[in-house]
Amino acid sequence: MKKELRAAVIAGNWKMNCGPAAAKALIEDLKPLAANAECGVIVCVPFVDLQVALEATKGTNIKVGAQNCHWAESGAFTAEISAGMLKELGVEYVILGHSERRQYFGETDVTVNQRLRAALNAGLKPIVCVGEVLEQREQGITEEIVRMQTKVALMGVSEEEMKSIIIAYEPVWAIGTGKTATADQADEVCGQIRKVLAELYGEAVAEATTIQYGGSMKPSNAKELLEKVHVDGGLIGGAALKAADFAGIIDAAK
Ligand code: 13P
Repeated sequence: MKKELRAAVIAGNWKMNCGPAAAKALIEDLKPLAANAECGVIVCVPFVDLQVALEATKGTNIKVGAQNCHWAESGAFTAEISAGMLKELGVEYVILGHSERRQYFGETDVTVNQRLRAALNAGLKPIVCVGEVLEQREQGITEEIVRMQTKVALMGVSEEEMKSIIIAYEPVWAIGTGKTATADQADEVCGQIRKVLAELYGEAVAEATTIQYGGSMKPSNAKELLEKVHVDGGLIGGAALKAADFAGIIDAAK
């Protein structure tokens, strides 16, 4: 396995936290701390913060992402935001299929696929989330669940398009619970995802795709997780809301 072939990427998922003023302040705090990062750095902010985040990160190494997009180009979808709208604003990344979207807003593997294809068509770079819930892990079906989620999410996606996709393995039981998957558990499932990618697209694509771990990652456990061969970065929730903690994780990616 050639970990050095892959770009390490640390992305913050701010979820429904920080209005525009707080977003600007957090990014200003983060800028000097992230300036010497040896990995990709992304902040995925609420829709209303995108403009402020794009302005505040101009000329820096910090990229900006949204947390979802709709699958249609436009139309009667009250309160939704299309991929094209995000692209027009200058947004580069978009999180898709986060477990909170699946859990609370009825997202399915199929709608994640629809959104993913819309994002790719608009020229956005998707961060696609997959992961099992606790009952599924206890049943011993983590691999099946994650394989299925990955395969359906990627339906109709070309080898060329895979170059702009990041996959995030987020075990649902580890999100916001303080319970982190052990580094070995994270590595095992990220490796299983890489195996699916090899089956679908061949070894070269599988080796080149960035696969992040997410779920209670923090400065104190990041190094151990990020050292694993299949863990190429992190998708960070709570710890992304404090500049020093997020920077600590970025440093651990060195
Ligand atoms: P926490 O880091 O707060 O567990 O959240 C992880 C997550 O859901 C990132 O998308």
